[in-house]
Amino acid sequence: MALVTTTEMFKKAYSGGYAVGAFNVNNMEIIQGITEAAGELKAPVILQVSKGARAYANHNYLVKLVQAAVELNPDIPIALHLDHGDTFELCKSCIDGGFSSVMIDGSSKPYEENIALTRKVVEYAHDHGVVVEGELGTLAGIEDEVNVSAEDSSYTRPEEVEDFVTRTGVDSLAIAIGTSHGAYKFTAAQCTRDADGKLVPPPLRFDILREVEKRLPGFPIVLHGSSSVPQEFVKIINENGGKMPDAVGIPEEQLREAARMAVCKINIDSDLRLAMTACIRKHFCEHPDHFDPRQYLKPGREAIKAMVTHKLINVLGCNGKA
Ligand code: G3H
Ligand code: 13P
Ligand code: ZN
Repeated sequence: MALVTTTEMFKKAYSGGYAVGAFNVNNMEIIQGITEAAGELKAPVILQVSKGARAYANHNYLVKLVQAAVELNPDIPIALHLDHGDTFELCKSCIDGGFSSVMIDGSSKPYEENIALTRKVVEYAHDHGVVVEGELGTLAGIEDEVNVSAEDSSYTRPEEVEDFVTRTGVDSLAIAIGTSHGAYKFTAAQCTRDADGKLVPPPLRFDILREVEKRLPGFPIVLHGSSSVPQEFVKIINENGGKMPDAVGIPEEQLREAARMAVCKINIDSDLRLAMTACIRKHFCEHPDHFDPRQYLKPGREAIKAMVTHKLINVLGCNGKA
């Protein structure tokens, strides 16, 4: 199977009550870990590349690595997606350069500007057989290229979604219902604590998701910022020389619930970073004599694979859906 768009994937996910995982990729080991998990579980998968990933690894390297993964996993549909494209030129460069899907993130712009920019990308993308994700509502986040303060973030306004989708022609829509980017999704002050003293974040705004679903029946919705920041990995990092106090994410059962609804794509990056970092930190502490990168990148790649396997089965529900 060649690289595919997300059209078929989303149609099946919507009617099947599950979501497709969109995992961020930056290097060979991450691509291998994700696609080995998806291949073994016969799951559709989206590999997504941010502007920062492209700057780090180079467009051609990432496209060729993904092409290799497609060749080695002929039984599963794989899409290559631009994550958080912020200009027409960046989207065009990915469309011309072999991606099957792009996101144009105009969510921080005034509404009419977001529509005009998104429409322009959709016209070019559709002429080239590429699908487009747009965004309405802004997520808080501390990532390199996605930097929105908590005060500037805002939930999606359901009353805008039909107008936005109709006027732009987007194929999917990212909405803001309380998720955010990175490993620190909420301050301790925004959370309560359970009996063990663990932080419990405020629940996602399912009321907004339900209203969006009602207004856009059958239309695929996307959730960004959907890492759960599993505390066992934070603990391993902190016990092995790391420092990640009060890192907190979105509870997995809430993501599973969203996947049963209109959410067809769930973005996960931070949890893969945590898995790989925890594994490599522990490895270095246990093997201070190791200096061959293969000695720690191999278990690091296995840690990515194990994390993705867990997500495909327990959070997304897309195992066996290829
Ligand atoms: O949405 C943000 C992703 O986690 C990508 O992060 O811009 O650091 O590559 P990045
Ligand atoms: P996390 O930081 O929660 O993994 O979100 C990733 C993301 O939304 C990429 O676009
Ligand atoms: Zn995102």
